[in-house]
Amino acid sequence: MQIGVIGSGAMGSGIAQVAATAGHDVIIFDKNPDAITRSRDKLQKILNRQVEKGRMDDATAKAIFGRIFFVDNIYSYKDCGLVIEAIIENLDIKKSVFDTIEDIVSKDCILATNTSSLSVTSIAGSMQHPERMVGIHFFNPAPLMKLVEIVPAFQSDPKVVQQARDLIDSWGKLTVMTKDTPGFIVNRLARPFYGEAIRIYEEGFADFATIDWAMTELGGFRMGPFTLMDFIGNDVNYAVTESVWTSFYYDPRYKPSFTQKRLSEAGWHGRKTGKGYFEYHEGATKPEPNKDKALGENILWRIIVMLINEAADALYLNIATRDDLDLAMTKGVNYPKGLLQWADEKGIIHCVETLDQLFAEYHEERYRCSPLLRKMAREGKKFYEKEAVV
Ligand SMILES: NC(=O)c1ccc[n+]([C@@H]2O[C@H](COP(=O)([O-])OP(=O)(O)OC[C@H]3O[C@@H](n4cnc5c(N)ncnc54)[C@H](O)[C@@H]3O)[C@@H](O)[C@H]2O)c1
Repeated sequence: MQIGVIGSGAMGSGIAQVAATAGHDVIIFDKNPDAITRSRDKLQKILNRQVEKGRMDDATAKAIFGRIFFVDNIYSYKDCGLVIEAIIENLDIKKSVFDTIEDIVSKDCILATNTSSLSVTSIAGSMQHPERMVGIHFFNPAPLMKLVEIVPAFQSDPKVVQQARDLIDSWGKLTVMTKDTPGFIVNRLARPFYGEAIRIYEEGFADFATIDWAMTELGGFRMGPFTLMDFIGNDVNYAVTESVWTSFYYDPRYKPSFTQKRLSEAGWHGRKTGKGYFEYHEGATKPEPNKDKALGENILWRIIVMLINEAADALYLNIATRDDLDLAMTKGVNYPKGLLQWADEKGIIHCVETLDQLFAEYHEERYRCSPLLRKMAREGKKFYEKEAVV
């Protein structure tokens, strides 16, 4: 099957590489000719490096590169079986691109969007054949990140969704199925990892280094929240938080922080600007954390219980299955444990009690306990009993 990719930025280039590595001929177009040149150069460099490091032989690298056709018009897509759009995150522009592409491809061609924050249903809304639309959400960098979220639109034909999922699975990716709701799985469940960490800092309980230490050393996360936000970029991370918050009709649970907003406004985006929560210029050192175990355990549990609450609520609202929720966070973004598994280990009653204590202390909606956790505590249930709870 020939695969089309629209947009040759960070995501489009990565997706094209993945599809070509899986053996497909790939056609990639960008409205900006410079972006096409950059994408071609970057891909060549990436493949050369793989050969230098002995991870790939020269013939394989050449074959992958030879399967990617960088084109200067969208009409070359007519024989594609799947077209994945990875252009700018703007609803009207995405809609107009799908409008054009529908007139070019055959009626059996699956159309997909890689949007992170827009509604797939809304993009499909103006299509002539919305039943062939599906969200295929890769993570950055697409060749390295194993997880892909499959997001059916309300209008999607389940057969099309299954075909798309099978195809992406055959590319060696790990797919999870999620409802078309803001943030899908990962960008929704992960919000408290950043938000609660910043809140703990704002209240003066601990500094950035101490919170990061608690999450990595005591919690087993690969990166602490502040190091990770600096890595992602505070501008990008803030924008995702704000988008999830507004898309959830301003649910206070997702409310962004002034701390991150100011960092972003100051241009302290993190690694890419040399300064964020930490400094990254040459010779910069990280401040020493306060390694008080009791303080660290408190920080860790407060963030974890908020993450668990988010996962439980997503299960309660049927956003995804128990297994997909846990898989998305462990295999997709390297959490040390699935959040629902973590809830079982800590005890559902303990989770509910902690959330209720936080709510009693602050009287803020962000600490409201998921009805599912409360019901399970009442009934003495666990997520991983013989049968799934939902
Ligand atoms: N960057 C990430 O971490 C990430 C992760 C997952 C999903 N996404 C999503 O993937 C999409 C692309 O993101 P990105 O980071 O690759 O952006 P990017 O800015 O790196 O690339 C977007 C490309 O689209 C091109 N483009 C814009 N309008 C176009 C049009 N009408 N026709 C053809 N090309 C057009 C631009 O010239 C640009 O090269 C967005 O929807 C984004 O939300 C991004």
